Amino acid sequence: MDRSYQVSPDVHVLPTHLPIPGVGVILVNSFVLLAREPVLIDTGLAIDRADFMAALEAVVDPADLRWVWITHDDSDHTGNLEAVMSAAPRAKLLTHALGALRLSTSWPLPLERVHAITSGDRIDVGDRSLVVSRPPLFDNPTSLAAHDTKSGTYFSVDAFGAILPSAVEDLADLALPDLVGGMITWATFDSPWTHLTDRSRFAKVLDDVRALAPSQVCSSHLPARNARLDRLIEVVGSVPDADPFSPPNGAAFAAIVAQMRAG
Ligand SMILES: [Fe+2]
Ligand SMILES: [Fe+2]
Repeated sequence: MDRSYQVSPDVHVLPTHLPIPGVGVILVNSFVLLAREPVLIDTGLAIDRADFMAALEAVVDPADLRWVWITHDDSDHTGNLEAVMSAAPRAKLLTHALGALRLSTSWPLPLERVHAITSGDRIDVGDRSLVVSRPPLFDNPTSLAAHDTKSGTYFSVDAFGAILPSAVEDLADLALPDLVGGMITWATFDSPWTHLTDRSRFAKVLDDVRALAPSQVCSSHLPARNARLDRLIEVVGSVPDADPFSPPNGAAFAAIVAQMRAG
């Protein structure tokens, strides 16, 4: 885990990162939204369990959590869900219905604690609503983003992520070519279907995100400080015409693993 930080009085970031030798780092952020009914958004990596729970407890007593939002059922978002649900007995699990069923195949998830959501829902968390929508880019069909109507934060799930030279918390600490190149690499890897999209329909999807006019973007895979939509959305608009991502082949992956083992 990396050091937690705040991007507004009510939004805390619980970050970690995955280094990939020769490629860069992938940030993995969870968030705590201190609404009147506190919300945890995603649950980090299972390999970080003790540190993740300590980072969470430093921001909010898990017993006070009322909602745990799983943005989608990928393992980098669900790593500590079982531990969180047991530490947060008052919390309901907000997630896609089919994602909840899929999660219930790996541990006995109490399905009666699931509040299934779908695009267009407004979730009342006491002092604000969270408006649910499908993010513009996604790697999993259960992905659901949220716009917090009070802080103006748009929680964009995997969309607007990047593969970066190093783990930072502030976009201002990134050179523009590193940000743009890292976002294109991430998006072509994470959402390879963009090359198949109708460009005008994709532009309309991005217009719908612009229309939210969020004050800040909290992506699961991007530094959250100074993450303003206008800096990011033009990059995402260029993704359908970028070169497709080419994953490491067997030899390249073996070289990456050898570098990891060498420390
Ligand atoms: Fe994902
Ligand atoms: Fe992710």
